[in-house]
Amino acid sequence: NPDKVLKGKKFLITAGPTQEAIDPVRYVSNHSSGKMGISLAEKAAQKGAEVILILGPTALKPRPHPNIKTISVLSALDMFEATKTHHSEAQVAIFCAAVADYRSETPSAQKIKKKENALTITLIKNPDIAKTLGASKKQNQIHVGFALETDEGLGSAEKKLVEKNFDFVVLNSLLDPEAGFQKDTNQVTILSKNGEKIKTPVLTKDMLALQLLDRIGSILENQKAS
Ligand code: PMT
Repeated sequence: NPDKVLKGKKFLITAGPTQEAIDPVRYVSNHSSGKMGISLAEKAAQKGAEVILILGPTALKPRPHPNIKTISVLSALDMFEATKTHHSEAQVAIFCAAVADYRSETPSAQKIKKKENALTITLIKNPDIAKTLGASKKQNQIHVGFALETDEGLGSAEKKLVEKNFDFVVLNSLLDPEAGFQKDTNQVTILSKNGEKIKTPVLTKDMLALQLLDRIGSILENQKAS
């Protein structure tokens, strides 16, 4: 049964935002609270999976559980390093973090003084963690992605599914009032490699985590069967 199949499986989950320093006082980040990824970690652990949670800066943390090891990181580069270190041993990787796509090219060691007029900061691209690791995904590794969009987003999510080599991608759109950052609820469309598209009703993040874990359990079952 798809529930038992998670027992002892190694999960790697990224969650939360990343923080990109401009100087020792200021940073670039986003609104992720880590709730969605923490729900996934807690529910996977309750089903017997061994979870490594790579968690960006947030006030929240998972309820202590012997099957959850949390690694706290700050920047996208830190998250990339920690995720790379644990990827090869993971059977399932879930990329739930809202990784900052850009960082300051030259973070200042000192607080930047107020300028007369505009201040220009050059932002350079961060590595794409899911895409890089997706390129070296092994035969029986399962990769699950998220996609956050501000429009309906199906086209972009499909593109991410393919480019990042996900088995399925979980699209949340800020058009849905109960979806996305910080809320205890989410509403998503799940897009799978096999072309399937399913929109869920509004669910608590815990309930959604359970549904996503069921889906992962089914993929693991099918792998066993084939
Ligand atoms: O944390 P909460 O407050 O509960 O909010 C949950 C959430 C909205 C953050 C979550 O549900 C979610 O959608 N997470 C992904 C947000 C995101 O950054 O989406 P994206 O469309 O920019 O990225 C696509 C995928 O690539 C994601 O799996 C992301 O983790 C991954 N990615 C993106 C950029 C990057 N440099 N490295 C990555 O691994």
